[in-house]
Amino acid sequence: MTPRWREFFGEFWVGPYRRLVPQWTWVARRAPDGPLLGYLTGAPGTASFERRRTWQHRLPLLVDLLRGRYPWNPDARRWLRRSLRLDVHPERCFGAAVKRELRARYPAHLHTNLAPEAQGQGAGKRLIEAYASALEAYGAAGIHLFCGPGPVGFYEKAGFRILARAVLPGSGAQVLVLVRALRPSGS
Ligand SMILES: CC(C)(COP(=O)(O)OP(=O)(O)OC[C@H]1O[C@@H](n2cnc3c(N)ncnc32)[C@H](O)[C@@H]1OP(=O)(O)O)[C@@H](O)C(=O)NCCC(=O)NCCS
Repeated sequence: MTPRWREFFGEFWVGPYRRLVPQWTWVARRAPDGPLLGYLTGAPGTASFERRRTWQHRLPLLVDLLRGRYPWNPDARRWLRRSLRLDVHPERCFGAAVKRELRARYPAHLHTNLAPEAQGQGAGKRLIEAYASALEAYGAAGIHLFCGPGPVGFYEKAGFRILARAVLPGSGAQVLVLVRALRPSGS
């Protein structure tokens, strides 16, 4: 990814976590002072996080985007179209029953990414376990995430299962919701 692309991508995906829930991010490095190889970020309570994100992050980001603060690229265009409801957001492909179940049983969520040179060496698994342990200590009942088919095998090995599948209107791309129950401390 070129630096011009990275700026919007980083602000869109990581910005709200850095600002609103900074204690819920882990990074992967080969050595304590080595370069960053990847991250996992999330929030234990997705519903309250998303409410705060709308007002404190998405609306200011939309204004910045429209003012030309970020270069136009396909990421920015796609997000604008989804924000204006011209395209369907992958997370909106699922019905009310799935949303209810996520809220009740799997309230935490996550995003993770590793640089290509760091993949396949166990870092992804360690990031997931660090997050799951912290969530259990916090008292969260479960985790969910949305993804395409590519990393499903990885998540299944990390204890997730497929809760639901959908097809993204327009593109035909598959979207899956994966969930993992936790054992919150004391339960
Ligand atoms: C998906 C990702 C987070 C996995 O992290 P990783 O460090 O590469 O995975 P690990 O080395 O910890 O692998 C753990 C186990 O999962 C398996 N695995 C890893 N990626 C897999 C995949 N895509 N499909 C099936 N199995 C996979 C590994 O073989 C390993 O199995 P083992 O325990 O039997 O040895 C990382 O590869 C990545 O960032 N990929 C690109 C971006 C992405 O897909 N992010 C997720 C978006 S939702």
